[in-house]
Amino acid sequence: MKKKIAIFISGRGSNMVALLNNIKEGILKDLCRVELVFANKPEAAGLKIAEEFGVPTACIESKGKKREDFDREVVEFLKEYNLDYIVLAGYMRILSPLFIAAYRNKIINIHPADTSEFQGIGAYEWAFENKKAFTKITVHFVDEGVDTGKVIGKQIVDLQGCKTLEEVEKAGLAMEHSFYSEALRKVFSGEYKLEEGSKP
Ligand code: GRF
Repeated sequence: MKKKIAIFISGRGSNMVALLNNIKEGILKDLCRVELVFANKPEAAGLKIAEEFGVPTACIESKGKKREDFDREVVEFLKEYNLDYIVLAGYMRILSPLFIAAYRNKIINIHPADTSEFQGIGAYEWAFENKKAFTKITVHFVDEGVDTGKVIGKQIVDLQGCKTLEEVEKAGLAMEHSFYSEALRKVFSGEYKLEEGSKP
């Protein structure tokens, strides 16, 4: 049975595009089905792109709402979809314990650094400013902490040839785009076992 997923975005959605391509005709084709692309910002550019893919989209604006009130609204809205997984792809909001409890071990995120080294936003800036020769992309389950959930996989990115922040981002994103699907393939196919996963 294909896993029913929602992809959550807040912005341009380049990871979403990579996922949608792999779901359409790549390594995720037989493993999952996108029930919807969800955004918390109406101006998220990825929403339009998702529509072009023919994927259902939805937006509930989070602006001005208390974290838990907003999350309660989203959880209520998602009920009818009976989702197996929520895939965060540039969703720029910390999820409240209420949301995590409703989807425990079902929320997956991509973080553009090794989550044991750097948490939160600004990971590429951190790698650039600290002149890192390498960084790691982490795909992980989401728990109540910020980038503290069980690791599904890490992928090294060589930054040695990168002279600017833009080049660091470009190299990192290119790796994100292939690695996220690969990590999700392991989860959806059952190859990755949650019990065997380790914390950051
Ligand atoms: C990516 O770097 C992702 O790892 C991080 O936010 C960025 C989102 O980019 N969580 P995009 O919207 O997928 O292009």
